[in-house]
Amino acid sequence: MRNPQVVSDAELPERVTVWEVGPRDGLQNEKTVVDVKAKAEFIRRLVAAGLPIVEATSFVHPKWVPQLADAAELMEMLGEEGRHLPVLVPNERGLDRALELDMEHIAIFGSATETFARRNLNRSLDEQFAMFEPTVTRAREAGMDVRAYVSMCFGDPWEGDVDIDQVVKVGKRLHDLGASQLSLGDTIGVATAGHVRALIRAFGAAGLGTDALADHFHDTYGQALANAHAALEEGITTFDASAGGLGGCPYAESATGNLATEDLVWMLHGMGIETGVDLEALINTSGWMAGVLGRPSPSRVVQAQFGA
Ligand code: HMG
Ligand code: MG
Repeated sequence: MRNPQVVSDAELPERVTVWEVGPRDGLQNEKTVVDVKAKAEFIRRLVAAGLPIVEATSFVHPKWVPQLADAAELMEMLGEEGRHLPVLVPNERGLDRALELDMEHIAIFGSATETFARRNLNRSLDEQFAMFEPTVTRAREAGMDVRAYVSMCFGDPWEGDVDIDQVVKVGKRLHDLGASQLSLGDTIGVATAGHVRALIRAFGAAGLGTDALADHFHDTYGQALANAHAALEEGITTFDASAGGLGGCPYAESATGNLATEDLVWMLHGMGIETGVDLEALINTSGWMAGVLGRPSPSRVVQAQFGA
């Protein structure tokens, strides 16, 4: 298998954490429900490929996301090796389900816009905090780590442009509930590099530095890798990505796949940045999953290397 020629840049970080969201963000958007055994194998193979964090599934309402209705069965199947994997939890009911399985790491997911809060969570922008606050408090009391996502940071399909100040206000409020990290979501993949830089700097000016931030890019307009590069130069060292470029959000019109993990890893390794990821094992995993789903992977690196 080909690997990129390494030319290091001393200005950039030595190591980056790739937060793999394929089993959750990827599979939540598939038309067909992937068999739970295949999901478990997907996760095991991603972990074996060296992905340090693999977001496994969501404890959301099963009617809202039927693709992940098997969350408990999946986590039981993974047993001990699944307990430390993060899972999405929107409310106390979801937290109870995660606690029953002794999960150690949850992620809440808020919206920077009013319309998406209503569409994705059935809550107003303010009401979402009333839902998250007791969820995070109880999770922290139980010793869990909590990540917070903020969606629609760069544009919203119903509201159009989203004010940077509004994103910072909502993001800080979510983080201040007790999250260890805030992931900035370009849910519909419309961000451009300058916008990414401006948002990171605005968070910094508001007291939330790059050590507390991650970026979560979707690739709808083909900008995800350029945006990741810009964010890297701004000091971001955690990036969400999805094996094979799977993904989207069932409640966000026009959202397509996430930044493909292979494409991100190819860029990072080429710049001499360590990820711990075995690119060949990852590509083989995405090729296998493309077979399970019955369609080729949109990842350019998977296509180039695997012909899938
Ligand atoms: P709701 O209908 O308002 O729920 O949905 P409710 O609080 O009114 O409760 C109604 C019933 O649902 C109750 O049952 C609850 O127990 C039950 P009843 O008493 O009537 O028998 N219920 C639940 N059951 C199982 N698990 C739960 C749960 N919660 C309530 N967790 C809710 C509100 C938040 C639950 C719903 O809107 C929901 O599940 N939304 C999730 C949508 C979603 O998963 N979207 C995709 C993930 S976000 C994303 O992809 C973006 C991201 O990638 C970042 C980016 O790209 O920007 C993260
Ligand atoms: Mg997403």
